[in-house]
Amino acid sequence: MKCSSDDRGIIAITIAAIIAISTGVQPASSANILGVFLSPSPSHLIVHMSIMKTLAERGHNITVVSSLKPKVNHPKIHNIIIEPSEARQKEMNEELSDLGVKKQNPIVMMMKFLRADNVMVTLQLDVVKNEKFQQIYNNKYDLVIMGYFMNNFQFIVPAKLNCPMILSWTGQPMEMVNDFVGVPHEVSYVPSVFTPHKNGEIMSFGSRLLNFVSSGLLRLATNIMDISFAAYYKELAADDAALRTYSEMTENVSLIFCNSHFSEGPIRPMVPGMVEIGGIQIKEKATPLPKIIDHFLNASKKNGAILFSLGSNMKSSSIQPETVKLIYKVLSSLEQNVVWKWENLENTPGNASNILYQKWLPQDDILAHPNLRLFITHAGKGGMVEATYHSVPMVAMPIFAEQPANAAKIVSSGYGVQVDILNLKENEFRDAILEVLHNPIYRNNVHRFSELYRNRPLTAKETVNFWVEYVIRHHGAAHMQSPLIHLNFVQSNSLDVLLAIWITLYLMWKLLKFSCKLLFKLVRSAKGKQKAGDSKKSKKE
Ligand SMILES: *[C@@H]1O[C@H](CO)[C@@H](O)[C@H](O)[C@H]1NC(C)=O
Ligand SMILES: *[C@@H]1O[C@H](CO)[C@@H](O)[C@H](O)[C@H]1NC(C)=O
Repeated sequence: MKCSSDDRGIIAITIAAIIAISTGVQPASSANILGVFLSPSPSHLIVHMSIMKTLAERGHNITVVSSLKPKVNHPKIHNIIIEPSEARQKEMNEELSDLGVKKQNPIVMMMKFLRADNVMVTLQLDVVKNEKFQQIYNNKYDLVIMGYFMNNFQFIVPAKLNCPMILSWTGQPMEMVNDFVGVPHEVSYVPSVFTPHKNGEIMSFGSRLLNFVSSGLLRLATNIMDISFAAYYKELAADDAALRTYSEMTENVSLIFCNSHFSEGPIRPMVPGMVEIGGIQIKEKATPLPKIIDHFLNASKKNGAILFSLGSNMKSSSIQPETVKLIYKVLSSLEQNVVWKWENLENTPGNASNILYQKWLPQDDILAHPNLRLFITHAGKGGMVEATYHSVPMVAMPIFAEQPANAAKIVSSGYGVQVDILNLKENEFRDAILEVLHNPIYRNNVHRFSELYRNRPLTAKETVNFWVEYVIRHHGAAHMQSPLIHLNFVQSNSLDVLLAIWITLYLMWKLLKFSCKLLFKLVRSAKGKQKAGDSKKSKKE
C-alpha cells in the first residue's frame, strides 16, 4: 500500500500525539500552583507531596509550604519550610506518646482529638501566622492545593490569593470533608471508619445504630470545631475587610483528592467533586534501595524477609520497654531477616544477626522487593495501601485513630492477622507471624485485591494531572458543585418539607373534623326544626 504525503503527515502527527500522551510531557501551558501542607504528620506529607511531584513532573511551576522537610520531593519544586516552635513540637510528641500506652475506645479517642485547642490545630495556626508564611501572598497562583487536616482557617490562603482551591485528604471520604463537596452521609448503608464491617456486608440493626451514632457524633464535633475555625479565620482576615467570609470560603472548594479507591470499599455514592487518587504515593517503578537494605534483602532469598515498622507518628521510645523486649525476642528467633524501623541506633533492642535497624525506611520500595514475605505494621493507611498494592500480607498492631479500623479490615479481608500491642503476649505474637508466613491464603487474598486496585481507566498520577488542569482551565469548575453544599441540616434532610407536609395534613384533618361537626350540627338542627315544625303542625290540626 502506498501512502500519499497527506497520509504521512497525519500518521506523523498521530505518532507525535501518541508519544506526547504516553510520556505525559508538558501540558499546553504550565500553571503556577501552590501547595500548603502544614499538618505535622510525615505520612500525610508523603501523600500530598506525591501529588505535587506528579504536577512538577508534568511541567507545572510548583511552590510548597510545609511544616516538615518533605521526604518526597522534586528538584524543580520551590520548598518553603516553616518549622513549628520547639515548645509545640514537644507538646505534640507528648500527645502522641500518650496514645501508645493507654487503651481507649476509638470513638472516644477521636472525640478527644477533635478539639480546637488541640496541638494539631495550634501548631498549624502558628505557621499561618508566621512572618515567613506571608511571602506566599507576593506571588500570583492559578490554584492552591491544601492538605486538609483540622485546619479550616487555612481557607484564608485562597481567599487572599483569590484563586481556586483543591483539598488533599489522606483517607477515604469521611464526615470531616464530605460537606465541602456534598458527598451525602448515607449512614444506613455506608459504614464509617469506626463501624466494623466486611466489604459488601449489609449492616445489622446494631451496626446501623452504632454507625448512626458515631457518624452523628463526628459531624457534631466537626460542626462545633467549625465555630473556632471561623473565629481563627476572622482573626487572620482582620486586616482586609474586602476578603470573603469564612462561610463563603467553605463553599468555595473546587474538589477534593481523597487517597482511597472504591475497590477498598465501602461502596458509597460519590459526587464529581470527590476524586479518588488512592495509591498516589506508590511509585509505579521502585527506586533502587539504599545499598545496605538492598544487600540485606537480596541475601534473604531462601527464607524471605520481614519489614517491621510502627509508622512515622509513633516513636519506638513510646512503646513499653517490656513490649520491645518481647518483640525482639520473637523477631530474633525467626529464620527470616527483619528490617526494623528504629530511631535510636545507639541504643537498639539487641544485635541479632537477622535484624537490620534503620532510622528511616523507603517503605514502599522495601515492600516492592520480591523477597519480602510479611509486613508487621501499626496499620496506618499509607503502609496498608502499599502492602496490598505489592501483595504483601500483614500482622497488624494498631495503636490509635483510624488504625484499629484498618486492622479490623486487614483481618476481615483475609490480608493478615491482628495482635494487641498494648497487651502483647510472646506466644501470640510468634503464632501470628508464623501463621501469616506459612499459610498461603493471606498472600493469595492480598494478591487478588492488588489486581482490582490497579485496574483503573487512569492511573492515580494521570487522574491528578487531569483534574488539576480541569479545575484551572474552568476557573474553579464551580459548575460541578453539588447543590447540597448550600443547604443547611434542616433543608438537606427535608425536615422543613416534612414539617410542612405534617402541618398540612394536620390542618386538613382539623378542617375535616370541623366540617363534619358543622355538617352534623346543621343536619341535627334542621331535623330539630323539622320536628318542631311537625309537632306545631300536629298541634294545630
Ligand atoms: C514559579 O513560582 C515561583 C515561586 O512562586 C515564582 O517566583 C516564579 O516567578 C514562577 N515562575 C514562573 C515562570 O511563573
Ligand atoms: C472559588 O473562588 C475563586 C475565586 O477566588 C473562583 O475562581 C472559583 O470558581 C471558586 N470556586 C468555586 C467552586 O466556587
